[in-house]
Amino acid sequence: MRRILIPFAVAALCGGACAAPTSEPAATNAAPAFVTELPSGYRDWRLISVAREEGELQDVRAILGNDLAIEAYRAGKLPFPDGAIIARLAWSLDSSEENDRAFGRAQSFVAGAPKNGVQFMVKDSRKYAATGGWGFGHFDENDLRPADAATLASCFPCHQAVPDRDLVFTLYSR
Ligand code: HEC
Repeated sequence: MRRILIPFAVAALCGGACAAPTSEPAATNAAPAFVTELPSGYRDWRLISVAREEGELQDVRAILGNDLAIEAYRAGKLPFPDGAIIARLAWSLDSSEENDRAFGRAQSFVAGAPKNGVQFMVKDSRKYAATGGWGFGHFDENDLRPADAATLASCFPCHQAVPDRDLVFTLYSR
């Protein structure tokens, strides 16, 4: 009985022209937006730099940028413009017996299987205003499925460590 009566009471109070409960849109706006759609063409983007992580990550990585990101880097332009996207790919770092044989000594390491996901920072100062204008995305290195919101919530707090570089750690390697 109560379940039926309450909507009638609300409708009567605001003459059938009620807005949605105020808590709902507020919660939607406050929830951080993440990148859950894989940016297309990223494997063809140009190289910004490479990096190596030890510890639990144990990989070798390439940081790539789309045209807007590369242009901003080369011009030393900060903050990055809307539309700039930076990609981070990573692979296991494997020793290469074949290369070692060619060199005549053990010295060669190469990229092996993809690991630690494919990550993106997508600049859209309005859409991602709550996270410094950057949308963060992480995709599984095998099936390229997007990570869940809990995983993506970790990105922005750490990237805040470099506010003077628009939250981007990687420097351009000439
Ligand atoms: C504990 C700190 C930390 C967390 C958490 C973190 N990052 Fe990073 N990220 C870094 C550092 C440091 C670098 C540069 C060194 C490297 O690439 O290994 C980096 C590099 C990047 C880059 C290349 C551009 C740049 O800023 O150098 C992207 C893209 C990126 N991270 C995306 C993400 C995403 C997406 C997440 C969340 C899933 C995330 N990061 C979580 C510290 C972090």
